[in-house]
Order: sequence, then structure tokens, then C-alpha cells
Amino acid sequence: MELKGIVLAGGTGSRLMPLTKVTNKHLLPVGRKPMIYYPIEKLTGAGVNEILIVTGTEHMGDMVSLLGSGKDFGCRFTYKVQDEAGGIAQALSLAENFTHGAPMAVILGDNIFEDPLGPVADAFRAQGKGARILGKEVGDPERFGVAEVVGDAVISIEEKPARPKSRIAVTGIYFYDAAVFDIIRNCRPSARGEMEITDVNNAYIAAKAMRFNVMNGWWSDAGTFASLANVSDLIAKRPPRN
Ligand code: DAU
Repeated sequence: MELKGIVLAGGTGSRLMPLTKVTNKHLLPVGRKPMIYYPIEKLTGAGVNEILIVTGTEHMGDMVSLLGSGKDFGCRFTYKVQDEAGGIAQALSLAENFTHGAPMAVILGDNIFEDPLGPVADAFRAQGKGARILGKEVGDPERFGVAEVVGDAVISIEEKPARPKSRIAVTGIYFYDAAVFDIIRNCRPSARGEMEITDVNNAYIAAKAMRFNVMNGWWSDAGTFASLANVSDLIAKRPPRN
């Protein structure tokens, strides 16, 4: 089963101002590469060769100058513009024509992690339908979507809860079948005015179509000064494997 890849690299990057005043967060250096190289290399390492990059209007030109057609990465890029930072689920909705009924692996452009993606991608290929997400135990779960887990099943997700029900963050690595676009169409903006990926994931959980793994290696986002510094340390100590 061919999996399409999607890297979501829109958003405002407001938590990294002034670094993001004249550039896109995902073009900032992390270790020896621009941030967005990491999710792209995870996808190509998992045998995903058709990759959609979604980003905002302001820096699309720089994104294309950096990444090109994909031949340097051994893949093919398609680009789509998200006019406004309306949320992760809204950015994903732009991928409907690109995926054209195929299942997909989605990675947030600021998520960097150690483990190769291949084994999870294979598990999703074997699963054939529904969705699959990855969790990771963290010290500051209130910054993330937090999974309520019973045994090895996730029974609900709360977005940035004041009182997290667990320490398991839902990472920005998601596998979906084509039903995701109908689910997004039925979602409404949250209190912060965004179309939330957590609402999409909860719809799959309600339909008993969500599978869940906890990641072994390290995982971090790179969207704040603290996490950006932390992830550079992690990469230096234990480089990501693809
Ligand atoms: O990193 C994992 C977390 O990512 C999850 O645990 C949360 O459930 C999920 O909502 C998300 O939380 P954040 O608040 O950290 O997301 P943020 O707004 O920082 O966006 C993360 C990436 O998503 C960003 O690097 C680019 C992409 N994005 C985001 C928005 C809001 C878009 O492409 N378009 C958007 O409109």
C-alpha cells in the first residue's frame, strides 16, 4: 500500500520571535540542518517518496528554494499554501487532492525524534485503515495533546489540559486513512480559533479506529526556545536514525 507523506510547516512561529520575524520556523537551524530536513528524512527513510509540504504565504519562496523538487532527498515534493494559520487540521485538509484516496503519514514540521519511522509505517500499512498515533512520556504534558491510556489503548485525548490525565504526550506524527478529510469537514474551530488535530484524533478513537504506540527513543518539538535548545543537545548525543 502506497503511503503519501505530508509535512505541515505553516503556523506563525510566534513563540520563537524574533527568530521567526523574517523566516519560517521550519527553516531555522537545528544541529547541522534546517529543522524541516528531519521530518522529511523520517518519511523518505520509511519508504515514503511522494511528499506534500504545506506552509504559509510569507516564506513559501524560501521553502521551495531550499527543498527544490525533492531530487536531493530521493523523493518528489508538492507544495501547498495555507493562507492563514487556521490550525493543524486545517493545514491537513489542504492535502485531500494530493493524497487522492491514499492513506498518509503526517509529521508536524517542528517534531524531531530518534526512532526510525519505518516500523510504525509498516504497522500502519498492515492495519490498512483507520488511524495510528504515537505517544511519548514527557515531563511537561500540559504543553501538548495528552493521551488517556488504558492498557495499550488510548481512550481520549485532551489538548493542553491544565490537569493532564497522564504524562503521555501525543506526538506530531500521525497516520490516517482517507476518511480523515470527512472528519475534518465535521470539525469546528476550538476556543483558540484553530481546527484542532486532537478533535480529529478523538473522532477516530470514538469510531474505535485508532491504534496507538508509545515511542522508545527521544522525541521533542522545537517550537519554543527551551525545546529548540533541548533538541539540539539530543541530536548531538543520539542522532536520529532513519
Ligand atoms: O508537537 C506535538 C503537539 O503539536 C501535539 O501534542 C498537540 O496535540 C498539537 O496540537 C500540536 O501542538 P502545538 O501547539 O505545539 O502546535 P503548533 O501550533 O506549535 O504547531 C505545530 C506545527 O504544526 C507547526 O510547526 C506547523 C504546523 N502548523 C500549525 C498550525 C497552527 C501548520 O502547518 N498550520 C497551522 O495553522
